[in-house]
Amino acid sequence: MADITKVLVVGSGAMGAQIAMVCSLAGLEVAVQDVAEASLERAREELTQRMQRSVDKGRITAEERDASFTRMRFGTDLAEAAKGVDIAIEAAVEKIDVKRSLFADLDRLTPEHAILATNSSSFVPSKIADATTRPDRVVGMHFFNPALVMKCVEVVRGPQTSDETAAMTVALVERLGKTAVVVDKEIPGFIANRLLNAVRDEAIRLLEGGYASVESIDTAARTALGYPMGPFELMDLTGIDIGYHTKQARFEETGHPADAPSRSVVDKVERGELGRKTGKGWYDYTNEGNH
Ligand SMILES: NC(=O)c1ccc[n+]([C@@H]2O[C@H](COP(=O)([O-])OP(=O)(O)OC[C@H]3O[C@@H](n4cnc5c(N)ncnc54)[C@H](O)[C@@H]3O)[C@@H](O)[C@H]2O)c1
Repeated sequence: MADITKVLVVGSGAMGAQIAMVCSLAGLEVAVQDVAEASLERAREELTQRMQRSVDKGRITAEERDASFTRMRFGTDLAEAAKGVDIAIEAAVEKIDVKRSLFADLDRLTPEHAILATNSSSFVPSKIADATTRPDRVVGMHFFNPALVMKCVEVVRGPQTSDETAAMTVALVERLGKTAVVVDKEIPGFIANRLLNAVRDEAIRLLEGGYASVESIDTAARTALGYPMGPFELMDLTGIDIGYHTKQARFEETGHPADAPSRSVVDKVERGELGRKTGKGWYDYTNEGNH
């Protein structure tokens, strides 16, 4: 199979825009497609500003920046964007029906050899692969936010993902200057988020059991384990409701009490104390500097 030179990124939101930029900075031709013209506009503006900052800081030259934008095309027409691509990276909204219908379209519109990758955080490849006639070329390609900065990309193999697809995806990740982490057997949450969630859940258990305070647990994570921030500080940064909704969805799927959101998290969500964005979460941010 030929090398990957042309990429389609579907969805130009928080993830798609930066994934597209990462690809074009690595010298690849990139078509960025979104159903919303406004989202494409916003992506173009944000990337222009970001790249200007990179030039100002001397991380890239103005010529490299200009050449990168020349390699990018933005548009709403999926058929046009899919022409001649070697891989499609889907970063559209996290709804299974949307993804399955997109993958059926991508199967129809991209060249036969193209790999169809999903950046989904919660759907494993097998939930999507059977919407296509090429399940062997469907793979998870899970970037972390912000994609321009974060090194890790999880390459998630579904039961039908071929060795060649996995190897080509890993090679692409490396070409992008990122570190590929292969998930040999798909599992919801993949690796990094499962590790993160395990630490978060244990932190909540310690708190609810009265073993230690929020501050003590965060301090232990930072000073003993070398974490850049403690689990409660991180929940406040990302939004306590995000973890709540993920757990609630999992609980509705499995009915297993261990999957349900914890009492103290439910309490926070009901009170609207969702973290930094509401001024209060595990910590109080109303007078920044309190904490
Ligand atoms: N935000 C994160 O931290 C993060 C991290 C890793 C992976 N992800 C995954 O990335 C994907 C996108 O997340 P996001 O945070 O960028 O979302 P977002 O809401 O910022 O962007 C989603 C984009 O998809 C577009 N879209 C919706 N339906 C579409 C369709 N049918 N065709 C083309 N575009 C369509 C929307 O217009 C929007 O621009 C999700 O699958 C999510 O699980 C998100």
